[in-house]
Amino acid sequence: MCGIIGFTGSREAAPILVDGLKRLEYRGYDSAGLITGTGSSLHLRRRAGRLVELEKLLATQPAAGTYGISHTRWATHGGATDANAHPHLSADSTIAVVHNGVIENYLQLKKQLQADGVQFRSETDTEVLAHLIAHYYQGDLLLAVRKTVELVKGTYGLAVVCKHEPGVLVGARLGSPLVIGLGDDGNYLASDASALAGYADKVVYLNDRQICQLDAESWVIRNQDMDTVDATAHDIQHYLGDYDAGKGDYPHFMLKEIYEQPEALANAMRGRLDDADATAHFGGLNLTAQQLRATDRVIMTACGTSYHAGLVGEYLFEELARMPVEVEYASEFRYRNPPIDRSTVILAITQSGETADTLAAMREAKRMGHTSLAICNAVGSSIAREACGGVYLHAGPEIGVASTKAFTSQCAVLTMLALYFGRTRHLSAPQGQKVIDELRALPDVIRQTLRCHDRVKDIARKYADMRNCLYLGRQYLYPAALEGALKLKEISYVHAEGYAAAEMKHGPIALVDADTPSVFLVPRGQVFDKVMSNMQEIKARGGPVIAVCSPNDAEVAHIADDLIPVPDVPEYLQPIVCSIPLQLLAYEIALLKGCDVDKPRNLAKSVTVE
Ligand code: M6R
Repeated sequence: MCGIIGFTGSREAAPILVDGLKRLEYRGYDSAGLITGTGSSLHLRRRAGRLVELEKLLATQPAAGTYGISHTRWATHGGATDANAHPHLSADSTIAVVHNGVIENYLQLKKQLQADGVQFRSETDTEVLAHLIAHYYQGDLLLAVRKTVELVKGTYGLAVVCKHEPGVLVGARLGSPLVIGLGDDGNYLASDASALAGYADKVVYLNDRQICQLDAESWVIRNQDMDTVDATAHDIQHYLGDYDAGKGDYPHFMLKEIYEQPEALANAMRGRLDDADATAHFGGLNLTAQQLRATDRVIMTACGTSYHAGLVGEYLFEELARMPVEVEYASEFRYRNPPIDRSTVILAITQSGETADTLAAMREAKRMGHTSLAICNAVGSSIAREACGGVYLHAGPEIGVASTKAFTSQCAVLTMLALYFGRTRHLSAPQGQKVIDELRALPDVIRQTLRCHDRVKDIARKYADMRNCLYLGRQYLYPAALEGALKLKEISYVHAEGYAAAEMKHGPIALVDADTPSVFLVPRGQVFDKVMSNMQEIKARGGPVIAVCSPNDAEVAHIADDLIPVPDVPEYLQPIVCSIPLQLLAYEIALLKGCDVDKPRNLAKSVTVE
């Protein structure tokens, strides 16, 4: 949510900043801005709207200079206007600030500043920071920033420049990620290492409450007491992996990421399936055999799509490991005070590793002394670094705001985890080996499943004008129904509800009419007949039915209006397989409606505010 990139070095800063913002734009795209410096002159450029608007401005009013900071915004305080776009300046225009996060006590700080005669030029919470830093500035920007952040309640990732200290960037972090990048031509400050690919060779991660200062040749990180902190510079390639971070030949990141799923699933499993012991292994789980045996309950916590993966995990752990699982929205978990005994492990699930609520939930669990693990995609992210142990997805960067390959990879990792726990309990070696064989076949199964795309396109054309849509499934496919509905609503703005199919007659069936299709997830399985009865109930009320079903299923074909056959797999893998046509359906409907698939309105990729 919001992206920051700063540069100081021997090259022109503006092109580097704009290129970095392009890579970060998926994190927020209401407005964008930058400020560069030549000697002690600062050049501010900012515009409401997409980054392209800033580029147009820079074409007519270039911003010269070899240092600068920039920002792409997801509005929290104040609308998407030029005035609210970052950077924000102090009243005397000596200090410029870009900020990710929320200053919770900004109103109180603003009132004090106004009482001292400061005129505000924006509606943002960030502007107070610029004025406060200017207030404390006495020739040492780092110190002024440190004094300012002491007053602040809330979260921040900050980058600051001062016209009296040309070439110097100061950063600070609390709850919003910030990294220093080290390159041949200079040094960088960014909210995400991925913005630095091709520029920096090494990255240094800031921890909460640390501040940093960099210029073209040097960098330093300090703690709250201004002591120098020892920090390690990591090879950036290790964090970014081998995935192509561009769109390649695809028109959208979302489509590319949908089609990357066979490879992403293979990567999630690579080196982790162990035929000798018929189990799975994870390098970073950091659980001793004793801890593993002593664990008798898991609480999974996550948001959005990752929460849906957690719900799939609940079924997986029950079936394969016979372990009780609770799945809780991280935003709820963090403020609850549930009784948790010592044998419970907390498992945070997250693509970005930066979701504020998931991070806070995990920290709360750690504070209480519970073993807190994470399933995470973004290497080096806050959650990945703070968890006691965990499993990376290795799905490569997910840029489309709608999560696709992360979801299916999360389900695959949860399957392997359930297998791992199961094999320390009742699951026999042959049963374990069967799961391994079925998992190994999955990438090819997904390749076959993707062949449904043309059929999905036809169905999308037929239903593109719908205003409401129901997604119905049972057992493992109930979370897949929730996920299908989330995909449709977030990128096509069509109202969609996911329901446990049998629950539908307890209320939502009132929504059914000839203009409200229901997408049934009904491949063959234990509850097939039950779901068919639910389908009949919808048909009896005139509701159109789209069925994701087993190949050549005459029984389904007899009732449903439109069929999307998918390969047969064991039930515990059905959420992965059935999600593919649902992702494609959401994508195609969004395209037909002319929506911006990769950057849906009001959303941002990584939700780093509460
Ligand atoms: O990065 P995370 O997995 O923690 O993100 C959680 C949600 O914000 C995310 O899944 C969101 O719901 C997606 N836009 C859904 O497609």
